Amino acid sequence: MTINELILTRESCREYSDKKVTLEQLTAIVEVARMAPSAANTQPWNFYVTNNPESVAKIASGCMAMDRNGFAGTVSAFIVMTRNVESETWVPATPYNHYYRDFDCGSAATHVCFAATDIGLSTCMIGWFDDEPLKEVCGYSDDQRASLVFTVGYAATDKIRDKNRRSLDDVMTIV
Ligand SMILES: Cc1cc2nc3c(=O)[nH]c(=O)nc-3n(C[C@H](O)[C@H](O)[C@H](O)COP(=O)(O)O)c2cc1C
Repeated sequence: MTINELILTRESCREYSDKKVTLEQLTAIVEVARMAPSAANTQPWNFYVTNNPESVAKIASGCMAMDRNGFAGTVSAFIVMTRNVESETWVPATPYNHYYRDFDCGSAATHVCFAATDIGLSTCMIGWFDDEPLKEVCGYSDDQRASLVFTVGYAATDKIRDKNRRSLDDVMTIV
């Protein structure tokens, strides 16, 4: 698959088949994700992967807090990406006080999704979650905070939706 095909094939999947995801597959995804670029190469992320039903159920409960993301209760594997809250990613060369950890994690997030798509899996990034159950399962301390959760699984259908995006004219200006 070319990178363009990968980009057009990746989509948020909220309906999964019963087929299980293996730890080897989750590991292969993180192997790619950790290659993401980050400001000053600080790599402020950690990844927690699971296909263990007990851990999966607990993480799902965090994602379904406040009656959102009900589909999270149907998946069999998760990746939780945390970001380091202690050491701010700070590039001293800029006087503008820019903090880059969220950009860094966003970059790693797309790597997760594309790596999964590349091996025939589907994902959905979940940004609406309650941290507490995640922290309990993953066991990270207060120097990390969950940044995103990824559902990982086999899509129930192989039909790809049309992309719903702002037009090129709307997002791009030649100056
Ligand atoms: C930071 C972030 C947080 C998101 N959080 C959620 C979420 O909590 N629940 C959900 O169903 N989708 C979530 N999404 C998926 C977006 O809704 C989705 O990417 C967007 O609608 C575009 O659709 P596509 O991914 O299928 O191309 C999130 C995406 C991003 C990038």
